Amino acid sequence: MVNAGIRKKIRGILENGGIASADFEAEQLLKWGLGEKYYMTGFSEEIDGERERLLTEAAIRRTEGEPLQYILGEWDFYGYTFKVGEGVLIPRQETELLVEKALPYINEDSAVIDLCSGSGCIPIAIAKKTGAKCVGVEISREAINYFSENIRLNGIEDKVRIAEGDVLSPEKSLLDSLPRADLITANPPYLTGEEMRTLQKEVRREPKIALYGGSDGMDYYGKIFEEWLPMLKPRGIFAVEAGDGQSGAIREIMESKGLSCRVFKDYGGVERVIVGEKGEPEIKGKGL
Ligand SMILES: C[S@@+](CC[C@H](N)C(=O)[O-])C[C@H]1O[C@@H](n2cnc3c(N)ncnc32)[C@H](O)[C@@H]1O
Repeated sequence: MVNAGIRKKIRGILENGGIASADFEAEQLLKWGLGEKYYMTGFSEEIDGERERLLTEAAIRRTEGEPLQYILGEWDFYGYTFKVGEGVLIPRQETELLVEKALPYINEDSAVIDLCSGSGCIPIAIAKKTGAKCVGVEISREAINYFSENIRLNGIEDKVRIAEGDVLSPEKSLLDSLPRADLITANPPYLTGEEMRTLQKEVRREPKIALYGGSDGMDYYGKIFEEWLPMLKPRGIFAVEAGDGQSGAIREIMESKGLSCRVFKDYGGVERVIVGEKGEPEIKGKGL
């Protein structure tokens, strides 16, 4: 089939399959399936049958609910490319706000701990931008496999490492292996039970362990400040992402632990990122 024919066919499959942004997604699939050389070629150029078969299958998988990002096998976050697929959360645009708000607090001498790292998008973007040393804590083996591939892909082996472990009840050996941090970041699972029941079919393909935050979505926030605040240096920064409607409750927890907080809205107007600074009481007198 000629190039123009394939383009029409792929767009048609997506449109008939009810994909809302069929034009955009068709272009993404064509770029991926045809490769740079054939994607840029003339509309009357003959495209081999193998490429046509691959693209047709991909478009059908997409209409069956597979996320576009899993089909492409990679996605961009904060200007860097990350491998993604079954078993790891797709980096979201909202999470770029967390990185943006955290960056001003650190430099190449800083130590950063990222909790619930998934693909590694947060620590890798932070390390690439600032040169800070970052450790990402993650429990899922599948996510860790993507995380380590992404460290290699982004050539940041000297700055980012992975610590396998449970952020909710970290073992002493895990904590002992980590530096005191200037910055701790976290984008934990925060969807509520109700939100899990009404997920878009694409999101249902992402791992439940990356999404579900307990019936009210707050299970992780209740625990992570308790467990991880001692790992933050005096005057250190704790920056977290929040689900829609959760920022007030999270801020309350953070302030109850002595953090002074600022809240930032995402482009959709949702209070998405909370940045807390750890204040140490100033010693004014000589003491006893
Ligand atoms: C919402 S995803 C965020 C992934 C990544 N930080 C991002 O922004 O794309 C949450 C991640 O936390 C991990 N996770 C869930 N429970 C965990 C636990 N108890 N300890 C460590 N990681 C956990 C999941 O495997 C998942 O990768």
